[in-house]
Amino acid sequence: MRSDVEDYLDRDEIPEDLNVEEFNQIGPAVLRAQPRGPMPLNLYRYRKKLNSLVNIYAAGAPMPADHLDHLVHLADQGRLFFSRNDQEIYARCAGSDPDAALDDPNLTPEDLAGILVSEIARRQKELFEHAMVPQLERLVQVVDSLAVYVGVDYDNIDHLVSVSHRNRDRERQRVNAGVIALAIYLQLNRDKVVIENLAPVSLGFFLYDIGMSRVSRLMTEKTSQLSATERRKLKEHPRDGLRILEKLGLDSEEVLEPCQQHHERIDGSGYPGQLKGKEIGLYGRIAAVADSFCAMITDRPHSARRNTVEAAVELLKMDRAYDHRVCRALVQYLQGIPG
Ligand SMILES: [Fe+2]
Repeated sequence: MRSDVEDYLDRDEIPEDLNVEEFNQIGPAVLRAQPRGPMPLNLYRYRKKLNSLVNIYAAGAPMPADHLDHLVHLADQGRLFFSRNDQEIYARCAGSDPDAALDDPNLTPEDLAGILVSEIARRQKELFEHAMVPQLERLVQVVDSLAVYVGVDYDNIDHLVSVSHRNRDRERQRVNAGVIALAIYLQLNRDKVVIENLAPVSLGFFLYDIGMSRVSRLMTEKTSQLSATERRKLKEHPRDGLRILEKLGLDSEEVLEPCQQHHERIDGSGYPGQLKGKEIGLYGRIAAVADSFCAMITDRPHSARRNTVEAAVELLKMDRAYDHRVCRALVQYLQGIPG
């Protein structure tokens, strides 16, 4: 039950001269999207009698449903705050609802990039482990938000690339490759991107290697040479991936082509179909370059990671295997981004 005092305090007006520089107002959407249980964020409200903000929720404390309702009520009225020192924690909390995060004035484009990349990594991993429709829907939801984020300002792709590539662990390779593929796609189509296509194109780039979820980790992390049987199994993963995607009800060219063709090479030396030249589509060519590029710049069991521009230039020289225009777009993109 709320006390009369609390009701009275709810009527407090926040004076304009209150020094809240160290704090930001928290939006109710962030609270509503939180999973049940304790929140990792300290919360503050304005108290008129003290003319200051006071802590009313300590991070990690129990959060009964009625307490959460009260906090949402305060946030609705713009009376709930968090410390700017907790910005990173706040951004993590806002990740529960990436769509609402896009409208949150507390979050910078870089914060949003961090939220989108970590949510894609988390939801992609869930889907790769359990290729079921609910997991796919969760990934689609965050990819749709990413498409909006990039669609409103194409330069936002730079934030996605720089945030995602801070982590070059093998676990993150498939996220980073998806982001780089999207950067290449935008570089190639800067003046003719159809905004509605950004979501399916992005989804295809984050799903293309789903067939690898059927290849055992023992095999992918093996430092010695693979046996002939193991190599055959590995080379089946684009076809395995295609079957998984079709089973999930995905049938668009933007989604299927990168999966089917990311190991095909222009000169016919790739797999699984030994496709040649024009038989390989643009999405397949982009996924091929992004996949090889990210493999080169990631630490692997048998080789150290490479410098990004050097790796892209090396791919540019391999024009019998990789699409020259796509590789050139990658080099141009890397030379153009700040930092
Ligand atoms: Fe692959």
